[in-house]
Amino acid sequence: MAIETSCDETAAAVIGVENDRPVVLSNIISSSADLHAKTGGIVPEVASRAHMEAMMPVVEEALDQAKLKIENITHIAATNGPGLIGSLLVGFNAAKTIAYARDLPFIPINHIEGHIYSAFSRESNISNLKSKIFPILALTVSGGHTSLTMMKDHGKYETIGETIDDAAGEAFDKVAKLLGLGYPGGPIVSKFASKFRDKASSYQLSAISFPRPLLNKPNFDFSFSGLKTAVLTQVLKLKAKSSKLTASQKQEICFAFEEAAVDVLTTKTVRAARKYKPRAVILAGGVAANKRLREALSYQLSAAGFKLFVPPIELCGDNAAMIGLAAYYHIVKNNIPELFSTTVDSNTAL
Ligand code: KG4
Ligand code: ZN
Repeated sequence: MAIETSCDETAAAVIGVENDRPVVLSNIISSSADLHAKTGGIVPEVASRAHMEAMMPVVEEALDQAKLKIENITHIAATNGPGLIGSLLVGFNAAKTIAYARDLPFIPINHIEGHIYSAFSRESNISNLKSKIFPILALTVSGGHTSLTMMKDHGKYETIGETIDDAAGEAFDKVAKLLGLGYPGGPIVSKFASKFRDKASSYQLSAISFPRPLLNKPNFDFSFSGLKTAVLTQVLKLKAKSSKLTASQKQEICFAFEEAAVDVLTTKTVRAARKYKPRAVILAGGVAANKRLREALSYQLSAAGFKLFVPPIELCGDNAAMIGLAAYYHIVKNNIPELFSTTVDSNTAL
């Protein structure tokens, strides 16, 4: 059983094993996003309280859906960071308590590692590859993180680039907030961008072109804060002419923003692939649900001779199945710490 509560999703999953491969038997998520929509962003204290209320019902539902009882569980895993400290503590301590009470091995999992392992689910096929799969290049894009990681083996990571300011998902959320589109911003900004794309007969039709920060720097770091400011400047310019933006102006801004963000993420990932020559590339994290990013990255990597593996949409955002999938490989390697030595760390690195 795996538990994840690093942000605003209370999640529990049960992972089984079939033919020496992990399979997701249940994956339950209770989100407090509706509560945060009222404030236009996450209030940590509100998220922690929501986790407290949802934790045990979510664990019970995960067991029910897997048609198992707590007595059938052999290992417990939980996210130990990075994330909001109050949120992390709820899931981590619930999991640790179950491990202690039932005398089960406990596996703490890094949240980013979990996102990467969402691409090891049966649906995304990477673990079905017959040949060697490492080294893997992983682009992890979420509300809190944007990083490029070289993975030499299970559990062996080298971060080769990351954001120097905002995360990619954070930029989507902030643009949505600027345009009054609600929270979380990624899906709605993407929907607005698609509306413009569908109407336009050519991508050249937008007169707006936002900057591509750090695109031409020879490293693999990202920056999204300047892009967000460019969107703000554009919004202020339009508002100076007419106080309220029309739906079609918002759609065009979303389109130009999504194009810029996807361009930077795609170009840097392809460049990293050419340099590090991985056997496979993984796209993971909440922003991996973005259709335009999935298509553009897959197309450009394939043109450069690399294959992209993406998790199914339901495993892109925060969930506990990804934590269980990562834990499976720790269990296989017998990498299980002593229960009382484990702690949460809201800033832990991969
Ligand atoms: O991985 P995740 O659920 O939580 C963190 O670990 O942060 O990622 C959430 C982020 C949010 O910023 C959300 O706006 C973004 O993922 N997101 C998207 C899409 N769906 C979710 N961003 C762009 N396009 C999407 N379709
Ligand atoms: Zn996440």
